[in-house]
Amino acid sequence: MKRILLTGAGGGIGRRMRQALAGAYPILRVSDMVDLGSAGDGEEIAVADLTRAEDLERIVDGVDGIIHLGGLSVENAWDDILRTNIDGAYRLFEAAYNAGVKRIVFASSNHAIGFYPRGQILDGSERPRPDCRYGLSKVFGEGLSQYFADNYGLGILSIRIGWCFEKPETQRTLGSWVSIGDLTQLCRIGLEVPDLHHEIVYGMSDNSRTWWDNKTARRLGYRPNDSSDVWAAEVDSSGVPEPGDEVGLAVQGGPFASEGYQGDPRRVAVQGAKSES
Ligand SMILES: NC(=O)c1ccc[n+]([C@@H]2O[C@H](COP(=O)([O-])OP(=O)(O)OC[C@H]3O[C@@H](n4cnc5c(N)ncnc54)[C@H](O)[C@@H]3O)[C@@H](O)[C@H]2O)c1
Repeated sequence: MKRILLTGAGGGIGRRMRQALAGAYPILRVSDMVDLGSAGDGEEIAVADLTRAEDLERIVDGVDGIIHLGGLSVENAWDDILRTNIDGAYRLFEAAYNAGVKRIVFASSNHAIGFYPRGQILDGSERPRPDCRYGLSKVFGEGLSQYFADNYGLGILSIRIGWCFEKPETQRTLGSWVSIGDLTQLCRIGLEVPDLHHEIVYGMSDNSRTWWDNKTARRLGYRPNDSSDVWAAEVDSSGVPEPGDEVGLAVQGGPFASEGYQGDPRRVAVQGAKSES
């Protein structure tokens, strides 16, 4: 792996992962539609819009592996989700294959499985249950990854990222928190582990209070160095209310699964989601 492309490098995760990856590969090509500042040692800057085919061809040229973080990271109007997260992802993968890229790490999300009840242990082999249009686009990305592995022979790791912010603030994010160091380790496994076809893993640190069994990640060599346990007492005593309505509080997706988040009254679907396992 000589040249790695990091999309979404101007975002919350991307900015920190750019630092964490400094020096890890001979060349890190950082890409986003926002200003990325000037190139550091071993960096290339590639300003690009993921919805423009000509931009995609340019940013994948000469690349060995891609960490695809770029796109809409919360709920949005369907047309925008479709253009950026669905069509944009397909065209990025297609451009990558045409350019001879061998590996892709796809930033999926816990919102691909957000309608599973809290407490149900998931290991990545379960069928998706997206909790919003954004989550649905991540299910598409996982299917896209499977297809490009099966049909074109790319090695792809889909990471259902939990909560990658500085620290957990609620019981739900205590379970799903991942440090930037641990998430970077997982991304590097996706780029470097031998014989990867397509796997789905959870982007979480070594948290005790979790609903996820990350055995696939461990099999691939993942050894998280951080844990949300160090914040548990602080979260327990903070009194910060868990966001979300009755349904959001019952399912793993939290506020993303709450009525009103998407502006739709969806009670019928929501009741079905709660009772089905
Ligand atoms: N932060 C988390 O805890 C979390 C949890 C689950 C999944 N994820 C996923 O991880 C990835 C990164 O998350 P984040 O929190 O850094 O999100 P973010 O919104 O902070 O960053 C996303 C980046 O993508 C860029 N982008 C959006 N549309 C683009 C376009 N058309 N062309 C080029 N760039 C575009 C944005 O400019 C932004 O810099 C996303 O795919 C997100 O869905 C994040």
